[in-house]
Amino acid sequence: MAMERELALEFVRVTEAAALAAGRWMGRGQKEAADAAAVDAMRAMLDSVSICGTIVIGEGERDEAPMLYIGEQVGCADAPCVDIAVDPLEGTNLVAKGLPNSIAVLAVAESGQLLHAPDMYMHKIAVGPQAVGCIDIDAPIADNLNAIARATDRHVNDLTVVVLDRPRHADMIRDIRKAGARIKLITDGDVAPAVAAAIADSGVDMLLGIGGAPEGVLAAAALKCLGGEMQARLWPENDEQIARAQAMGISDVNKVLTHDDLVRGNDVIFAATGITDGDLLRGVRYQGAVARTHSLVMRSKTGTVRFIEAIHRIDLKPMLKDLLARQE
Ligand code: FBP
Repeated sequence: MAMERELALEFVRVTEAAALAAGRWMGRGQKEAADAAAVDAMRAMLDSVSICGTIVIGEGERDEAPMLYIGEQVGCADAPCVDIAVDPLEGTNLVAKGLPNSIAVLAVAESGQLLHAPDMYMHKIAVGPQAVGCIDIDAPIADNLNAIARATDRHVNDLTVVVLDRPRHADMIRDIRKAGARIKLITDGDVAPAVAAAIADSGVDMLLGIGGAPEGVLAAAALKCLGGEMQARLWPENDEQIARAQAMGISDVNKVLTHDDLVRGNDVIFAATGITDGDLLRGVRYQGAVARTHSLVMRSKTGTVRFIEAIHRIDLKPMLKDLLARQE
């Protein structure tokens, strides 16, 4: 059974709940507690949505994650049957330190449409709609930048590439600088900048580099909705990870994963809510009895992109009680 359009708004309530819970932990230096708060809130809200959902990208295996583990069933209806990729808190360090761009995020598609990405690294390249068809993950970086510049009618020097600031990216950063493009190095959280690459005037033209594979599928879902493009390749670090990828159905770990390999078909819903302020979304504002959230929700089938600002009446007592309990 196809997903109904009303579901998109149901899913944004789920990311809002996770963001509202995690935002309380901003700057407290406790990333696990922030993550746990987001997971609890997201799990509870998911069960109010009229779906028969299976978590395919989540907090890990059943034995290591009490909630939102891979294979867990969520939702309160027999249909539609959907697969869900979640990251209740994308950028745990960002929240712990009060840095920009942490989000609560999920993607939903009909069963079997999302790549069951193992928890390992993935090499990713993501661009917006104007540069679709111009990128090749195996091409030299300068070639990709020149192609994007041509497609967007700009000079390479005008382009901005977002890269995670990691030693493994030293050569890549050198090549981008040599080609003449501008770079924005980030400490964590590569989903928001990948999405931003497909949003006009965001100031981001490309996301490049090696980050989490689960985050890659979430970003690919967003780019499907926005008409951008993503290519990827798993980046396993040992034989165990290769075996894990194969067990999850990716027989050739060296294969280039096209956008359609990451997210099949054209009916995916993506929702994200800002936790800390970022390029894409504003973070949660707590204002006494109310809190404000800023979210993005979209569906690839219709191409509608909604930015939603919500004002939530909040019952402070349980929230603060929970915060104090977790602090002990
Ligand atoms: P969290 O799991 O702490 O939320 O971190 C997310 C993240 O920064 C992703 O956005 C990114 O893809 C990945 O971690 C990078 O991994 P690493 O920190 O190991 O380089």
